[in-house]
Amino acid sequence: MYRTHSCGELRATNVNQTVTLAGWVQKVRNLGAMTFIDLRDRYGITQIVVEEHSDDETKAAAHQLGREYVIQVEGRVIERESKNPKMPTGDIEVVATKITILTASVTPPFTIEENSDGGDDLRMKYRYLDLRRPPLQRNMILRHRMAQEIRRFLDSEGFLEIETPYLIKSTPEGARDFVVPSRMNPNEFYALPQSPQTLKQLLMVAGYDRYFQIVRCFRDEDLRADRQPEFTQIDCEMAFIHQEDVLEIFERWARHMFKNVLDIEFAEPFRRMPWIEAMEKYGSDKPDLRFGMEFADITDLAHGHSFSVFDDAEYVVGFAATGCASYTRKQIDALTDYVKRPQVGAKGLVWIRVDGENTKSSIDKFFSQDDLRAIAERLGAKDGDLCLIMCGKKFKVLSQLCTLRLEVAEQLGLRDPKKFAPLWVIDFPMFEWDEETERFYAMHHPFTSPKPEDVCYLESDPGRVRANAYDFVCNGTEIGGGSIRIHDAQLQATIFKCLGFTPEKAQEQFGFLMNAFKFGAPPHGGLAFGFDRLCSLFGGVESIRDYIAFPKNNAGRDVMLDAPSTIDQAQLDELFLSLVKPE
Ligand code: AMO
Repeated sequence: MYRTHSCGELRATNVNQTVTLAGWVQKVRNLGAMTFIDLRDRYGITQIVVEEHSDDETKAAAHQLGREYVIQVEGRVIERESKNPKMPTGDIEVVATKITILTASVTPPFTIEENSDGGDDLRMKYRYLDLRRPPLQRNMILRHRMAQEIRRFLDSEGFLEIETPYLIKSTPEGARDFVVPSRMNPNEFYALPQSPQTLKQLLMVAGYDRYFQIVRCFRDEDLRADRQPEFTQIDCEMAFIHQEDVLEIFERWARHMFKNVLDIEFAEPFRRMPWIEAMEKYGSDKPDLRFGMEFADITDLAHGHSFSVFDDAEYVVGFAATGCASYTRKQIDALTDYVKRPQVGAKGLVWIRVDGENTKSSIDKFFSQDDLRAIAERLGAKDGDLCLIMCGKKFKVLSQLCTLRLEVAEQLGLRDPKKFAPLWVIDFPMFEWDEETERFYAMHHPFTSPKPEDVCYLESDPGRVRANAYDFVCNGTEIGGGSIRIHDAQLQATIFKCLGFTPEKAQEQFGFLMNAFKFGAPPHGGLAFGFDRLCSLFGGVESIRDYIAFPKNNAGRDVMLDAPSTIDQAQLDELFLSLVKPE
């Protein structure tokens, strides 16, 4: 037997017992006659002591030890003289009677403790060492617990867990596909799924009624803190349901998760906010509702004061930054610089310090006190607030102002990771116009159904059509999204047409789905949650990387495995591939 107890288990009640522990040496302290060893495993740390009168073999073994050696220790539990209340095992220590070195270790490149001295790159390269650290272990344990809760809830609601293939035909979800060449079918490629979207719809056609899967998805897109090229979805689909049914079940699911994992309960039903309201009030389809500072349209109040910046703008909008009238000129200039950075791209920022009769602003020359107060009032500003105003093309300026709102909230400490503000965003537009390619794209995906009352605008005014689509948003992050699907081959063909597919192209890419719909497709719909994002939301950390055992870096590389990498000529030949050097 390698061990009788874990390194996190022994307490005062175990005193005098003979035990065997196994684990990693975190620290060795030689204090002349005595040696103290911190022995660590997944469960905790136990202090081992080698005493002056221990036998020579044990003392010799103790002297050989270095950090991260894997050892087995036999010994007797004693009560510590100086207890450590910070450690769960801090009341006891184990006096070693025998130390066996199971494997030696070279000196690790960084300290493997609660806080490490290793930089990001180094820790990624030696991810298996970083994973030994307690914070990452807590993250992995949280992820595991959440996966179990998800399965427990969905199973109890009659959802079947069904796996779908990874080597498939492309399913467009708005990103590029990762592709895999086929040796047996020369010059042909599989695509890795961006999601199992069409497959879960086929399972509905197949009569499975309620499906779920905790499944890997692959998207070749630019990476950010909340985006990985391979990530995990909690993917769900249901038949014979309306949007209301999906929202009801998955709101219960979300409550179950908050309650069972974080012990948090919400008194009120989750807010449901139409997309246009989210955009106009928060400048984002994933509003952060942990704090207010809502936007108001002041175009009518801003126009006609000979201030050409406003007069020339399509849309003038602002919000009241709570309590920020005390901001110094320097602080306001810093905010202006912030919105002028290329990442935000605004031309400038107008401000009003609201202070009763003494209200001041950067546009005093053009606006009287009364004008300024009218604007402040529209923005819901009170004395002591600072109105921040921007102008431009409507949706562009809304999105720029959103960035500013989040920055101000960050400065004010309003983005508390322990506070949660979940909501549903509903009534998304069906299509999104892309200026560059001059065509419409599906805002969600091409299988999303339009609202029945908007179907009449499909051909005449596609921009006006709303979708039966919904997102689950929390704290400014899109955690999940889905839609009621089209189950009618004819309507699906019309949507493909709106998206610029010729009937031939639609047949080539989605023939299998449209064909399946000819055999009796039930009305169906569903959604998918980003599991990595949900874990990082619950864990209160921004980066999803910390919740993935072996993530990729921002360049999409696995620096530990050194992937992607070249393959040898024989492999290329077998696949009928030849390489072209990039310019
Ligand atoms: P969607 O594309 O909105 O919907 O994805 C669902 C959820 O997956 C998460 N997500 C990501 N997480 C990490 N890294 C990424 N690169 C990444 N991309 C997406 C987000 C997102 O809300 N098939 C549809 C769902 C449906 O209609 O049922 C779909 O994939 O949290």
